Amino acid sequence: MRKILIIGIGAGDPEYVTVQAVNALNRVDAFFIPDKGTEKEDLARLRLEICERYIRDRTYRLVDFKTPARSHDCPDYKLSVQEWHSRIEQVYETLLAEELGEGECGAFLVWGDPTLYDSTLRIIEKIKSKGNIAIEYDVIPGISSVQALAAKHRIALNRIGEPVHITTGRKLAEGFPDNVDTVVVVLDGEQAFKTIEGTGVDIYWGAYIGTKDEILVSGRLSDVGDHIEGVRAQARRQKGWIMDTYLLRKPAEK
Ligand SMILES: C[S@@+](CC[C@H](N)C(=O)[O-])C[C@H]1O[C@@H](n2cnc3c(N)ncnc32)[C@H](O)[C@@H]1O
Repeated sequence: MRKILIIGIGAGDPEYVTVQAVNALNRVDAFFIPDKGTEKEDLARLRLEICERYIRDRTYRLVDFKTPARSHDCPDYKLSVQEWHSRIEQVYETLLAEELGEGECGAFLVWGDPTLYDSTLRIIEKIKSKGNIAIEYDVIPGISSVQALAAKHRIALNRIGEPVHITTGRKLAEGFPDNVDTVVVVLDGEQAFKTIEGTGVDIYWGAYIGTKDEILVSGRLSDVGDHIEGVRAQARRQKGWIMDTYLLRKPAEK
């Protein structure tokens, strides 16, 4: 049996790493470090920093691996993601079989929280259920970009007794969801907030939250939307990649 820990490391600030995550880090023999392309180097470095900072009196190894990129040829988004995930699954299965000995503990350090817009849990569960290699796994929660965004802007995610809708830029572009007044958007490469009409919508936007490059902007979407677009484009140009999240809130009903 091989043990896998899927550890949420928080969304940027090494101080977002929880005590539970530190205890988990200190049980690991091998960390699997993905090389994802663009934001890769910075994020891989942060993973290493976390290991160096929190692991005490224990030797561990770092196993770098290349994650396959999603093909953009397929017009069906869900199909292309499925195909991409099955390639990742094969990479992970080989990694676990070849790089982790029986009885050892391996870990994936997942950005933010592993339960939010991340495929690691689905992929590991699939490998476990196929049964080619015997694994068991635990999940350690982390501070997500959504929580970090709200904390940085010093706002509650929800209005009293009201729901919060978390979605992607792709979905938001189809319109502000019905029956909610608050939407949090991740994975938005197209600034879908530009498609939102209506006066009185507020935006709380953050990029590179929790890191030294953090940028925060908030205000009426109609007042600050263009400014965010400009700031975002400039930051992306300078750094070569961007990670941003935002919350949109409609005015309270009277
Ligand atoms: C694949 S999702 C992973 C979400 C992650 N599991 C979490 O808990 O935040 C990646 C998206 O999360 C958001 N994100 C993650 N970290 C962020 C940060 N430090 N600042 C701003 N947005 C962030 C961005 O919207 C990014 O496109």
